[in-house]
Amino acid sequence: MTTAEAPASTSEGTNKFGVEWAPGTLNSSDAIISVRHLRKWFQVGNTILGFGQKHWLKAVDDVSFDIERGKTIGLVGESGCGKTTTLKVLLGLEVPTEGQIFYEGEDVKTLSKAGRKDFRTSIQAVFQDPWSSLNPRMRVNSIVAEPLEIATTMTRGQIRTRVGELLTEVGLNSYQGNLYPHEFSGGQRQRIGIARALALNPKIITLDEPVSALDVSIRAQIMNLLVDLQEEHGLAYLMVAHNLATVRYMCHRTAVMYLGVIQEMGDTESIFRAPTHLYTNALLSAALPSHPDIDREEIILPGEVVSPVDPPPGDVFMTRTPLPVDPDHEFAKTRPPLTEIEPDHWVTVTPWSTIESATEQGIDLALSVDEEVQDV
Ligand SMILES: Nc1ncnc2c1ncn2[C@@H]1O[C@H](COP(=O)(O)OP(=O)(O)OP(=O)(O)O)[C@@H](O)[C@H]1O
Ligand SMILES: [Mg+2]
Repeated sequence: MTTAEAPASTSEGTNKFGVEWAPGTLNSSDAIISVRHLRKWFQVGNTILGFGQKHWLKAVDDVSFDIERGKTIGLVGESGCGKTTTLKVLLGLEVPTEGQIFYEGEDVKTLSKAGRKDFRTSIQAVFQDPWSSLNPRMRVNSIVAEPLEIATTMTRGQIRTRVGELLTEVGLNSYQGNLYPHEFSGGQRQRIGIARALALNPKIITLDEPVSALDVSIRAQIMNLLVDLQEEHGLAYLMVAHNLATVRYMCHRTAVMYLGVIQEMGDTESIFRAPTHLYTNALLSAALPSHPDIDREEIILPGEVVSPVDPPPGDVFMTRTPLPVDPDHEFAKTRPPLTEIEPDHWVTVTPWSTIESATEQGIDLALSVDEEVQDV
């Protein structure tokens, strides 16, 4: 699928709601949610009666992005880089340590009671594992009806009709509402989760690995369903996925996270066509090629996956890069900003973080992302 053409980026000022631009964001007038400089730190380790050193696990550290009407933004990165934590903060399941979340231009911290209810209704979630996210003791009708019973004043008859419509919309039969989750296949269970998420007509659905628990043969069906629902309802998705093919298929924009920090971000096709950060290249090279005869050099990053506890004050990638790091360089001491290297393609550029740097230094890490099938 070719993703929609990226809107022109406005790398300054405020959007129509008055929300300040941040590097990597588009300041689009279609932004329903704008996340700015979000941090979620967890205090870890023992302090006895408040004494002893405090350690901070910086799960999300200064992350900014927009969620645009009708579009999908993807978050990718290794296990533990802060993807789910970002979703949890948006869903109100974790309190941010710092930063702001704007819903249609209003800081969610200052929303009125009614505004908060509207915000909570407008963002719903579909989880990775439809087994654990559906109550096994409830019939499907009750599972899908629950949000309507809690958050609306609809009558029982209206709810019954709406549940039937929702089940049909996700490709199930309305009679299946009388069954229990275990009486469905994995793909069908994920459809039930999607029906429940759709019940309150949300503007945004967070998708945390929505197809990774499913059999490969039914992943495409669920992805197509999500794309169809997006087109039908103008839904926005914030999607977390390990599988890069899923990201390329579903996401208009992609953010690559490493240790709580976005390292590369922008139009999905630009990133897949010209991955620039070494970390993005390593992720892509670790992904299976779509054809077994495709020759793909693998980039293995040295060292262990670094702990997010008390990360370095400078570039978090400097302890993982295969290139030499100058400890006196400013980005060894302060965080490098995202730089726009082509329209809507942003990267944290340091002497040790990009493919270009490696080439300039004569270190060959080049990765063939042009998928040329070799003659066999
Ligand atoms: N409540 C918590 N207390 C302490 N640390 C936490 C808490 N929740 C998450 N973390 C830590 O924050 C970091 C980010 O976790 P998160 O679940 O966001 O990762 P992820 O990118 O979703 O990983 P995965 O791909 O494995 O799902 C991890 O190091 C995790 O151990
Ligand atoms: Mg996760």
